[in-house]
This record gives sequence, C-alpha cells and structure tokens, in this order.
Amino acid sequence: MAELVIPIARPQMGDEEKERVWEAMASGSLAQGPRVRQFEEEFAAYVGTAHAVATSSGTTALHLALLGHGIGDGDEVVTVPFTFIASANSIVYTGARPVFVDVDERDFTMDVGRVEAAITPRTRALMPVSLYGQPADMPAIAEIAERHGLALIEDACQAHGAAIDGRRSGTWGAGTFSFYPTKNMTTGEGGMLTTDDAALADTARLLREHGMKVRYHHDLVGYNFRMTDLAAAIGLAQLPKLDGYNARRREIAARYDEELRGVVTPAVRPGVTHVYHQYTIRVRRRDEFAERLREREVGSGIYYPIPVHRQRPFVAMGLGEGSFPVSDRLAEQVLSIPVHPSLTDAEVDRIVEAVNATADELGALEPQATGR
Ligand SMILES: Cc1ncc(COP(=O)(O)O)c(C=O)c1O
Repeated sequence: MAELVIPIARPQMGDEEKERVWEAMASGSLAQGPRVRQFEEEFAAYVGTAHAVATSSGTTALHLALLGHGIGDGDEVVTVPFTFIASANSIVYTGARPVFVDVDERDFTMDVGRVEAAITPRTRALMPVSLYGQPADMPAIAEIAERHGLALIEDACQAHGAAIDGRRSGTWGAGTFSFYPTKNMTTGEGGMLTTDDAALADTARLLREHGMKVRYHHDLVGYNFRMTDLAAAIGLAQLPKLDGYNARRREIAARYDEELRGVVTPAVRPGVTHVYHQYTIRVRRRDEFAERLREREVGSGIYYPIPVHRQRPFVAMGLGEGSFPVSDRLAEQVLSIPVHPSLTDAEVDRIVEAVNATADELGALEPQATGR
C-alpha cells in the first residue's frame, strides 16, 4: 500500500538480508560469532583501516573508543554541541568532561578555528562529528590532535562511505559508525569502531566482552557491547549495497541543489564526498514549514531541535556552559527532507514542489539570519 506521507527514512530489506538472517538462525550461531568476524573484516576493508570492532550500537562504539584510549575521570574531550546526544553522553559515561566548540555555519561540523582555544592540560581527545553525511574537516583536526598529542575519535555514525579526497571517514584516528535503521546502511541496531591501531582494537575487543579473552578469565571490568550474528548477517547483506545507496542519495541531493528555491541548501566543502545521511535545509519559520510540508504529504525531521549544551542533564551537570551561537541558530532553522535511496523520481518531484511552494508562502530566511 502506498504511504500517504513520504517518510523521512525507509530502511531497505531485500531477499539477501532475509536469506542471510535465516541462514544465521538455522546455524544456531545467534550471538557474536563468525558472521560478526566476517562483517568486521569486510567493513574494515571497505573503510580502509586495518581493524574494525563490531558493537551493539554506535553509542557503545564511541564509549569503547574513549575507554580504549584510557580516557576517564578528570579528562576532557573536545566535541560539538550540534549533534545527537550520544556523542556527548559517551564522554560522560567514562567520567570525562565534554568541552564544546561551536560548529561552522557553512557545513555544520566542528569549527576548526575554535578547537585550539578549547584545549587545556586536561584535554585527552578530539571528537569531531561528521554530521548528516559530510565528514568534519578531518585532515585539519588530525593535524591539531597530532600537534597537541591528543587522541582523535571521529563520530562517523552518520558518514558511512563519506570521504575527503577519496579517503574515507573512519580512517583518521578511530572512527565510529552506527547501523541504526535510518542510517545509510543498517543492521537493526549495531555499531563499528574502525582503527589502524592494533592495541586500541585489542582493548576494545576485551572491553566489549567483559574483559574476557579466555573463557571466564576476566582481565578487567568490561561490558557486554557485542553485536549479534543475526545483526551481522544483515550487515553483510547491506554493505555491498552501500555504494549504490549512497550514489542514489547523492543523485537526489543534486536534484534538490538544482531545483529548490527560497531555502538555504547544504554547502559541501571542496574534495568532499557527501553521502547525505540527511539533506538538511535552513528555512524561515521552521516548525510551520514542517507542518505545511506534512499537509503536502511530505515528511521531514529536525536534527536537532535542542543542542546538547541546552539539554536538561547537561545543564544540570554544569556541562553546558559557554556560548554556541551557531549551534543555537541552526537548531532553530534546520529541517531535513527525505533523501533516502528508495525515493522514486516522482516522489522527489513531489518533495521539490512541496518545499518550493512552502518557501513561497513563508518567505526566505533573511541574510543576517544565516550568519553569511
Ligand atoms: C552523530 C551520532 N552519534 C552517535 C550515534 C549513536 O548511534 P546509535 O544510535 O547506534 O547508538 C548516532 C546515531 O543515532 C549519531 O547520529
């Protein structure tokens, strides 16, 4: 049955996924097993790192990346407030303190020019976020991390297959990915840590399994952050399709770039392969804009309406101090419209018409409201 409203995400499950999951179920290997190992190998080869460690979610991949670097009480990790809360939460879990730097108005990722001012003697790591499918400026941030002797963890949970000059997200320092259903590829729930650092990968594997290498011999207090073989079976079927999915996302995004009027369309830095986890526009009277799109049977999403520094627990913990005007402004203006690969050309036509008609009714953002 055709959906009335075009949804913001539509996960694709084909015969390959069904066959692989069925085969995993029939094998009796349901928890972490050979499919997880194979998925790790194939994902590492795809991204271009020596190691990949599969986890139960993107959040647990971030948590392991931090713990694997020995980050904990009294440490600081520099990240951005304009992200999904998991980036900052993972830092809090370790006992470390997230220190926020604002994002760049143009590409919504960590403002490189503000990073050094946020570094203190307690800083242990930089955690940029590759938001909406565009990598943060990883070469510049890696250079700062190197100069200050800091670990680098790219939150690439929205950037599977994204690249800068052909080098993929997840290859600078440690990378973390999420396979939540709305992501560019999914395993239901799941995550992955990528790295060239064998010691980090080893520690992450140990922490993922209650600190256990030899059965029931525990070297440290770890966690159960394992991926199941059922999830890995889905991932093994999805991974070969990722480039095709991303190509379709980019094709739809190119149409929006070309055809949308009266809204601010996303800026892509030179050399970047943006994989459009979201296609995010900036609009005037955003909530009303979303409502009118819905009346026109086009779904949309707001990622994110409240920046992390304004979220209740962060304010209560005193972790939200500082002024982040770009994140605050974006939180009021951003609206993501459907860009998933299963959209038909006719649906893309409908989305373009709906956005343009709504922008005509509500008017364009004043130039001063875009900070440009
Ligand atoms: C930027 C970002 N970081 C972290 C996560 C956490 O991933 P998960 O939902 O798989 O725990 C997500 C995904 O939701 C995300 O978008």
